[in-house]
Amino acid sequence: MYFYGMIPQDTVNQILQAAEISEVVGEFVNLKRRGANLIACCPFHNEKTPSFSVSPAKGIYKCFGCGKGGDSVRFIMDLEGFSYPDALKWLAKKYNIEVKEKEFTDTELAAQNERESLFIVSEFAENYFREILLNTEEGQSIGESYFRERGFSKPMLERFRLGYATDSRDDFARTALKAGFSAEVLDKAGLVSVKENGVLLDRFRGRVIFPIHNVAGKPIAFGARVLKTDARAPKYVNSPETDIYHKSHIVYGIYQAKNAIRQKENCFLVEGYTDVVSLHQAGIENVVASSGTSLTVEQIRLIGRFTDNITVLYDGDTAGIKASLRGIDLILEEGLNVKAVVFPEGDDPDSFIRKVGGEAFARYVEQSQKDFISFKTEISLADIGTDAVKKAELIESLVASITKVPNPVKRQLFYQEVARLLNIDEHILINEGNKLVAGQVHTARKNDGGRVSPPAPERNLEMEFLEKSDSRDEEALVKDLVLFGQVKIGESHVLADYIFGETEADILSDAVLRAIYKQYREFYTRGEAPPDRYFVSHPDSRIQETVINWESPKHELSKHWKKYEIFVPDYRDFLGEIITKTNFRIHLLRIKKEIQEIIEQLDTEDEDQEVILQEALRKKNMEKMEIAEFLGSVL
Ligand code: UTP
Ligand code: MN
Repeated sequence: MYFYGMIPQDTVNQILQAAEISEVVGEFVNLKRRGANLIACCPFHNEKTPSFSVSPAKGIYKCFGCGKGGDSVRFIMDLEGFSYPDALKWLAKKYNIEVKEKEFTDTELAAQNERESLFIVSEFAENYFREILLNTEEGQSIGESYFRERGFSKPMLERFRLGYATDSRDDFARTALKAGFSAEVLDKAGLVSVKENGVLLDRFRGRVIFPIHNVAGKPIAFGARVLKTDARAPKYVNSPETDIYHKSHIVYGIYQAKNAIRQKENCFLVEGYTDVVSLHQAGIENVVASSGTSLTVEQIRLIGRFTDNITVLYDGDTAGIKASLRGIDLILEEGLNVKAVVFPEGDDPDSFIRKVGGEAFARYVEQSQKDFISFKTEISLADIGTDAVKKAELIESLVASITKVPNPVKRQLFYQEVARLLNIDEHILINEGNKLVAGQVHTARKNDGGRVSPPAPERNLEMEFLEKSDSRDEEALVKDLVLFGQVKIGESHVLADYIFGETEADILSDAVLRAIYKQYREFYTRGEAPPDRYFVSHPDSRIQETVINWESPKHELSKHWKKYEIFVPDYRDFLGEIITKTNFRIHLLRIKKEIQEIIEQLDTEDEDQEVILQEALRKKNMEKMEIAEFLGSVL
């Protein structure tokens, strides 16, 4: 039995069957029928004419504008930012399917219950602090008036579920115990501290409360700010790390911001809780805070679920700027686009927006935002002057940043920009970049047994194209396997028999394609075929995306294939075509593998041997060309 997260496979199947794609999508988007499909304006990006299409027959959606696609589960994951199991649970609830958790071991059950109780007690605490803020004398006269002075409106107190903790030792602890929570759970949730004699002390006292929510909107932790600026007390007291709160995995405000981030196709990243609330108040809702720590990869990926674009908004002090530089490199490494905005000296986003208002704020951001190259160059050039050594250092660090960009076309553009800004020959920069990457490969191999794969050195675009067409042959083979593996060839064989009879997984160099191949083969060796939509509903998003692309109408099937789809009894006349193509494809992939092996030997052998190898290589390459040409002509 397979488990995705903690949900038994048969329940998963039940959910997948019930979750009719047009119903699920239709709950969020206004769908209109067009032929066999339904269309709408895409919920994942901003558009006026619909390019978002739902296919009830295939159980998938696909946007031809932004490229998002998937099944019902993926839709909920993408839209709500849920994990795979959470999306399944959401659907289970919608379709009244009971998610049985009987399969848990006792320890798993205990852990599950404990996490659940932390969620419950956090929600209790959130409500408690809100209640105090809104409905008690102390809360109103101190907490509410503090927020009012900062210009936070009632709707903002509501949206961010802000609260107030009384200035007492254990008001909260006593209330929570009375409500039935154990001292242990209060402790594990980080809401109290337990003294040696067992006495409970409230963690948050005499402070306004900013609850921190996960993407689903559940409170998981709290930040509590002092009211008076007092050098003796820390400005914020925050929840410690708990089983449900990992500071480095969450950004403040993501739940309140996620829709706006998707709509605006951009996320503003600020430092403080108050910056987030202030921007919302002024009508700018696509904003989250890193909460004063340096940005982590997990935080960037969380934002990346909703957009590819981040604009870093930092205070106008140098410490803030320096801190943002590291974050920027990290964002680049994750393949997201990043811009940066610096505010006038002494202002942070909160104080600035209160001074000038939402519209002027947006204008300022628009006009002063810089891509990371200009940003880094300008702030560094300011204190470099004519110092050649420092200039060289700057170039090196710019090149280092560029090598982190995964997209080769973007890299190229950034090299051009640096070349222009610093008046240096572009090729020198590219060369530097390549050396840097080669060095990283070297150290990565040494340190990590070669498992780390840093970005490839710069190549010309022609090379990239050739590689792409190589991977297309691999892709075509696996695609035929997935789409037509069960098509009969001859009396008692299917295409999968043929493919698995002739190949091994190592003929494929692409990891995702290899994974698909292997999983299909696992079914095959058990005498089964993957169930309908198995790959389209796959929990590994890379597998899922790959297969969705094959299923989607974007890659039109050739006339023959179409014919097969429509007239099933007549497919025999091009069965020959499938087999011929598959046959040649396998041959081609084999030759490619052999070529690769020859190239590897070339490095090490002596001169005589090299001549022989060169000749072998020439022959293989010719063979490869011929087959490729043939394949090109039949495709
Ligand atoms: P700031 O000092 O900018 O706080 O720290 P702020 O939230 O903007 O508050 P105001 O505007 O001065 O009232 C930025 C963030 O760093 C974290 C908090 O998440 C804060 O929002 N921080 C700061 C702490 O966790 N503890 C601290 O003592 C200070
Ligand atoms: Mn601040």
